[in-house]
Amino acid sequence: MSESLATVAYIGAIILFILSLGGLSNPETARRGNFLGMAGMALAVFATVLGPRVTAAGIPWIVGALVVGGGIGLYAAKKVQMTQMPELVALMHSLVGLAACLVGFASYVDTSTVFPTPVEKTIHKVEIYVGILIGAVTFSGSVIAFGKLSGKIGGKPLLLPARHWLNLAGLLVVVYFGHLFLQANNIDAGMLPLLVMTVIALAFGVHMVMAIGGADMPVVVSMLNSYSGWAAAATGFMLSNDLLIVTGALVGSSGAILSYIMCRAMNRNFISVIAGGFGGGAPAPAAGGVAAQPAGEVVPVSAAETAELLKEAKSVIIVPGYGMAVAQAQHTVFEITKLLRDRGVNIRFGIHPVAGRMPGHMNVLLAEAKVPYDIVLEMDEINEDFPETDVTMVIGANDIVNPAAQDDPTSPIAGMPVLEVWKAKTSIVMKRSMASGYAGVDNPLFYKENNRMLFGDAKKMLDEVLTALRA
Ligand code: TAP
Repeated sequence: MSESLATVAYIGAIILFILSLGGLSNPETARRGNFLGMAGMALAVFATVLGPRVTAAGIPWIVGALVVGGGIGLYAAKKVQMTQMPELVALMHSLVGLAACLVGFASYVDTSTVFPTPVEKTIHKVEIYVGILIGAVTFSGSVIAFGKLSGKIGGKPLLLPARHWLNLAGLLVVVYFGHLFLQANNIDAGMLPLLVMTVIALAFGVHMVMAIGGADMPVVVSMLNSYSGWAAAATGFMLSNDLLIVTGALVGSSGAILSYIMCRAMNRNFISVIAGGFGGGAPAPAAGGVAAQPAGEVVPVSAAETAELLKEAKSVIIVPGYGMAVAQAQHTVFEITKLLRDRGVNIRFGIHPVAGRMPGHMNVLLAEAKVPYDIVLEMDEINEDFPETDVTMVIGANDIVNPAAQDDPTSPIAGMPVLEVWKAKTSIVMKRSMASGYAGVDNPLFYKENNRMLFGDAKKMLDEVLTALRA
């Protein structure tokens, strides 16, 4: 394939990637968006492998890597549970970071490229230094994020004394060694500064994510997504590959926008999330030093009683959360929805932006169960309707319906917008126990007078509710 044909194919791939991102912004077009992205990637891989920069001797290596990498990817994607998706994504980000580091070192020791001017050589060295820096932070940060999301590392933030000063000192050392690296006039002399910077960048990635509490992990995952994009763009600069630069920039900027949207959804400031320390897993002490404890009585309810409440209701809002995903209850939810809709009940879904464990988690599950899109509403669209609602059914959700976010300024989730389910005539919370949710905070909703608790596995309980509704 000639250089110009490869360039045309690259432009086609870039357009497909942009259309893919556009498609992914809406559940109705998301499937098409995915296909366009896959087509773009296939085109990009073909244009690269058959392009002028790959020699015939390199092709077996590339094909071998494609088979091994593709095989592992296929196996992982088939095996992973929907609830483990964020861990998988974090692991994949770590691979992008690792690739950027490896490409950086390989470009540095590769003496085959001749630079016409010293300025171009310096620019190439800056690309290598910055590329390895971003790659190493992304790699170690993503590995720690994987550990935290999979529960292998505790969610409590690690707050070292003077941690901000430590980070600042690390930055200054990186700048100093960057200067030494650019001054070095042979590969051996530059290797030591490069290695020192890599070690500091790896330590910084570990430190940065260790300092972030469990409740802020969604933002961290999307932030690492953004970093992995910039790492890919840096790799593109090192390899003089325009497609990689553009694709990396697309991922980097869309990840940054997603992080911003998620911060807004959780009423968090992006800088304070990165500075760390939030969502340690234990409730913060109330004024006076005593932890705020919800007061009131918990009223359990049976599946048959739940069915009765639903039969009498004219309007129902279902709020799904992580527990619905764990129990795989979405299909039964759809059956109940269909039955109630046929009986003329106004039934809708309220989706919190960080419900579940990844952005759009609930939308994907409901779409899979064929729930119509027009009754699935975002938090902002539905929050005002709770006071006019007869029954809200909270299925395996906890933090996203916690009134403490509004009422208790000492709560670790204070200020986070929540679905105001308690404003309905009756709220029913379906979960297995009184255990707390992801943020590890007690939920006063369970003790409210108009709240009922339907204890048990969401799928099992909903099956019983469906049977009672049909009876
Ligand atoms: P959570 O607050 O984690 O609550 C889920 C509840 O589901 C738990 O309290 C659990 O109670 C219940 N549950 C678990 N398995 C169940 C089953 N088989 N049947 C019935 N109930 C079950 O979930 P949420 O309300 O969806 O909130 C999401 C949380 O995750 C937020 O704190 C958010 O910040 C965080 N987070 C979100 C993301 C994204 S991007 N969405 C990513 C990472 C973290 P029992 O144990 O008593 O059953």
